[in-house]
Amino acid sequence: MMDASTVPPPASLDTIEKQVTLKDGRKVTVRRMHADDVERSYRFFCALPTEDRKYLRVDVTRREMVERRTTEADDGRVERVVVVHDGGIVADGALELEGHGWGDKVAEVRIIVARDWQRLGLGSVVARELFHRASQHRAVRIVARLMRPQEGAHRIFRRLGFNEEFLIPEHVRDQDGVWQDLIIMRCPLEDLWRDMERKLADGDWLRHR
Ligand SMILES: CC(C)(COP(=O)(O)OP(=O)(O)OC[C@H]1O[C@@H](n2cnc3c(N)ncnc32)[C@H](O)[C@@H]1OP(=O)(O)O)[C@@H](O)C(=O)NCCC(=O)NCCS
Repeated sequence: MMDASTVPPPASLDTIEKQVTLKDGRKVTVRRMHADDVERSYRFFCALPTEDRKYLRVDVTRREMVERRTTEADDGRVERVVVVHDGGIVADGALELEGHGWGDKVAEVRIIVARDWQRLGLGSVVARELFHRASQHRAVRIVARLMRPQEGAHRIFRRLGFNEEFLIPEHVRDQDGVWQDLIIMRCPLEDLWRDMERKLADGDWLRHR
């Protein structure tokens, strides 16, 4: 079995912008978030439908929250990836590393795709980039935390290979202040890679690259 620490280091997103062709033929650029992305990022979050914003951890229509997210990316604990089309952000991904203590090999992944760009493979592309970053940081376990109504997210993470789920009833509050069940999905990084390599071999990933 391949150990996560033996996964060959991927090309760094710090310097590389990747062009990706989506299922509908549109071309987008995947790159690391820059400090000057605040305005683009703010526009992206404000344009999300209320339903997609409602279950996010913070109120991203508050500009200071978006500014904080962008600055936070500089402290090395959070990796942020954006997907850009025509100068605007169409998807956003984050990998948060606990980085110390009992969680030092655990990373959490978060992905948001603009409504008009969903179901084109973008969420999977962003996930793949974040898993690259996770292996660079020598993370061994990846977790995703969702509220129960986030069904699309639940499906994509299952499809990506997250194979364990834990539910804490009424543990977090959505942006309307309603208590929601928290679902924690988890997967060893090595299993995610194996699954993705298989999908690559099946041609499923190739069309996204
Ligand atoms: C969850 C989310 C990131 C998925 O992004 P996406 O770009 O649509 O994902 P993909 O196109 O890569 O989907 C891959 C597969 O996941 C499954 N999937 C994704 N969204 C789904 C949905 N809404 N319903 C059912 N299955 C879904 C499908 O199997 C899909 O493959 P298919 O389109 O070939 O059937 C996007 O719906 C989103 O941003 N939702 C709102 C925010 C959110 O809940 N984020 C997750 C918090 S961590």
